[in-house]
Amino acid sequence: HRVFYFSRHGESEFNVLGRIGGDADLSPRGKKYSENLAKQLGGPGSSPNAPKPRLIWTSELQRTIHTVQNIPGPRTALKDLNEINAGICEGLTYEEIQERFPQEFAWRDADKLKYRYPHGESYLDLLQRVDGVVQALLLNTEVLVVSHQAVLRCILAYFKGSKPEEIPYVNVPLHTLLIVKSHGYDFKIETVPLKV
Ligand code: G3H
Repeated sequence: HRVFYFSRHGESEFNVLGRIGGDADLSPRGKKYSENLAKQLGGPGSSPNAPKPRLIWTSELQRTIHTVQNIPGPRTALKDLNEINAGICEGLTYEEIQERFPQEFAWRDADKLKYRYPHGESYLDLLQRVDGVVQALLLNTEVLVVSHQAVLRCILAYFKGSKPEEIPYVNVPLHTLLIVKSHGYDFKIETVPLKV
């Protein structure tokens, strides 16, 4: 059977401020998470029988790259794992979006799956973007994927068989390691919250 490890990046300085998008670095709690995640996956302080990922895939954004910095193994930064591009709303809080772009805010609320940020992406765009990553994953095993909430919603939807309309609302918690084990086409997801 195959096993895959998934995680969001550790908390970022933008997460602390409630801002979306951007390329902020990890907050102090996010750094703590990167140490605790490494302890689960063969890094400093892990038990001798801890699994070691054969491949580590991150996005190109520093919050994912820094989340895996203490984990041993070959790493690749993939553009297709970058967070949803929020276009004109990059770097704003949801309150600021509602104030500055009330029509956009209402449109997104009405159809979050199909809504595309001006100069940015929709969840439908993301589903297309991650398709190649999912296909590549299925040719491998023991891969660690560290990415972002919207992207992980789309990737995990494949393993969970979620309905498209549900995908934009799935909660993918911070500071949690998800272990997906496949037995043929049957996937089981284990959730491992890590203290920070
Ligand atoms: O920055 C984007 C978040 O990870 C996903 O948020 O629920 O607004 O798509 P959303």
